[in-house]
Amino acid sequence: MPTPKFPFEPDDPKDTSGMRKGLTSYGDQGFSLFLRKAFIKGAGFTDAALDRPVVGIANTGSAYNPCHGNAPQLIEAVKRGVMLAGGLPMDFPTISIHESFAAPTSMYLRNLMSMDTEEMLRAQPMDAVVLIGGCDKTVPAQLMGAASAGIPSIQLITGSMLTGSHRGERVGACTDCRRYWAKFRAGDIEAEETVDVNNQLVASVGTCSVMGTASTMACVAEALGMTMPGGASPPAVTADRIRIAEQTGAQAVQMARDGLSIDKVLTPAAFENAMRVLLAIGGSTNGIVHLAAIAGRMGLEIDLAALDLMGRETPVLLDLKPSGQHYMEDFHKAGGMATLLRELKPLLKLDALTVTGRTLGEEIERAGPGFPQDVVRPASRPIYPQGAIAVLRGNLAPGGAIIKQSAADPKLMEHEGRAVVFENVEDLAERIDSDALDVTPEDVLVLKNIGPKGAPGMPEAGYLPIPRKLARAGVKDMVRISDGRMSGTAFGTIVLHVTPESAIGGPLAHVRNGDRIRLSVANREIALLVSDEELARRAKESPVAAPTAERGYRKLFLQSVTQADQGVDFDFLRAPHSLGKVPR
Ligand code: FES
Repeated sequence: MPTPKFPFEPDDPKDTSGMRKGLTSYGDQGFSLFLRKAFIKGAGFTDAALDRPVVGIANTGSAYNPCHGNAPQLIEAVKRGVMLAGGLPMDFPTISIHESFAAPTSMYLRNLMSMDTEEMLRAQPMDAVVLIGGCDKTVPAQLMGAASAGIPSIQLITGSMLTGSHRGERVGACTDCRRYWAKFRAGDIEAEETVDVNNQLVASVGTCSVMGTASTMACVAEALGMTMPGGASPPAVTADRIRIAEQTGAQAVQMARDGLSIDKVLTPAAFENAMRVLLAIGGSTNGIVHLAAIAGRMGLEIDLAALDLMGRETPVLLDLKPSGQHYMEDFHKAGGMATLLRELKPLLKLDALTVTGRTLGEEIERAGPGFPQDVVRPASRPIYPQGAIAVLRGNLAPGGAIIKQSAADPKLMEHEGRAVVFENVEDLAERIDSDALDVTPEDVLVLKNIGPKGAPGMPEAGYLPIPRKLARAGVKDMVRISDGRMSGTAFGTIVLHVTPESAIGGPLAHVRNGDRIRLSVANREIALLVSDEELARRAKESPVAAPTAERGYRKLFLQSVTQADQGVDFDFLRAPHSLGKVPR
């Protein structure tokens, strides 16, 4: 009779896969494995199951996160895929963040979620991981954490919500949320209509249905090669989304077997493709911050000057709100990312490897020919001739600032006006609707102290509302400037991410009411028309003390958070060694 195998010592001491991976330290490896198996068998597992490759599934389902409301169905499908491919699925919870349920702002918690993700990927035995994310900060947090953890990783997007209908008009979060709220502020609709439309803006679980940050990061994740082909666009409640989940689970097993670790996918070529796609989809400005943070985990730096140059040769092709007119479900029906990538092919790095083990170019070929549709425009007939985002510089933003030019009023792109300054969000809330506010449509609204350290967490308060008295007079857009972010679903001539921020003494801190400010998108300039000597005098007269905190996560955040150009990541989470800039 053959001697039964002793199951608590690795046959090969170098075998640290599956349940043998990352053993808890008790000083005796055999005992550690013996104990681990004893506990997991308490949940009814057999040795045969425990000998399979282990695929972790990061479960970000939460009652506070309706954008991830389909997480139970996705997990079931991922598990099915993992088991069909011969693996053992193990789902586990991590932090989940929803935009409207995170105070002071979701961005404040993104790095915490990335740390949670990274450490759980390191601490628990898994040969590959499926990351289930969707709402704005979740996908970047997961990609940041996985990039640092270094194991084979594949992103599963939760998918977009369906659109609703309000009094015969198609609506979806959140461009239409802002549009209806602006109508209410302008006195164009009554309070009772806000109640009606509130019931229709979010017609199902899933992420925002326009090209906001969630849709942007879904497309960026696919462009990075981190999702299954076609993984960006299926809406949350569709069979296509569930099928992608099953395929994702099966592919995770293959990645574990092939040792396809994340560093083989997140290469400079992949980031260049992601930047190209970000520009061509009219993506959220937040996408730049998140890409900078993910790249930083790989030792790479997003070259903003090069991004701007890429923007000049990359047209916006995707006709989605807020730059265009359609919604994510239309993009999916139009073929999703395959349709876009086919059109962008001459500008892409086709040899970038994806999670399938094939290159992006091979995946575009496998997707087959296109078909007539009106959501992705041909390069010869773009929505906007240049990329969505322009990078600005000048004495107001020595470290750079950005503007989403495709969502701005063309008449305001070359503009000079008088500064109307708000010191912080409280000051803004107090005075913006006052009839006594000294403001005209030609003025430039300036909001300070909403940068990474300022608020803290760089909230999406950069979309300053039009002062009520001007809104009622029919003013729809004004030049607005801040060191904060804005939702990708917003529309307007809005300069964001002014770096360095005002809370650490950047020039923005020293702007005063009545100063002249010049915006020239053509020249990529944002200038405060005040002399260097006067700015230096103001800095001396009113020195800025950077905010601090006594304890806890807030203390860690304020001590460690970087500026927008470095992704607002914590300095100690970035890769220790620089591998240079992207694109190369
Ligand atoms: Fe979750 Fe918009 S609030 S994607």
